[in-house]
Amino acid sequence: MTTAVCPGSFDPLTYGHLDIITRAAAMFDGVTVGVLVNAGKRSLFDVAERVEMLESAVLHLSNVTVASFDGLLVDFSRSRGSTVIVKGLRASADFDYEVQMAQMNRHLEPDLDTVFLPASPERSFLASSLVKEVAALGGDVSAMLPRVIVDRLLARLADRGRD
Ligand code: PNS
Repeated sequence: MTTAVCPGSFDPLTYGHLDIITRAAAMFDGVTVGVLVNAGKRSLFDVAERVEMLESAVLHLSNVTVASFDGLLVDFSRSRGSTVIVKGLRASADFDYEVQMAQMNRHLEPDLDTVFLPASPERSFLASSLVKEVAALGGDVSAMLPRVIVDRLLARLADRGRD
């Protein structure tokens, strides 16, 4: 049994993330989606909301589970019994930082390796931060996220606008 971890902030999940999780699920016996608690970073959705949205989006993938984590990714991966980290690579802009993190993680935990999956071309421009910016400015993000998450995103932005 080889299981993998797909880590991220997922604030919120996009079709880009879902593409990587789905492809990882086809490659490994099990996949844990690791949602970073992000204590130091102000996120639009709290960690329980991000976990819940992910759980609903991966319901059809029987070998995928979702869990939050705080602290080092290598410790979380070990606690899940995973030996592989799966990350998506969108463009060369991702490459340097992702390779550096992969090397750091392998230094910390030599038995843990990172596998990069190239983003599907039709998803490669997606980033949660950009999607939030576009939605906040009134742009159409309906093709970028599952419908249920679009609705929650628009509702949250509307709430924030009323603050
Ligand atoms: O979706 P993101 O924000 O690009 O995901 C980044 C993530 C969660 C993969 C990265 O920040 C991470 O692994 N954080 C956990 C803390 C850690 O292990 N830091 C050392 C990384 S080399």
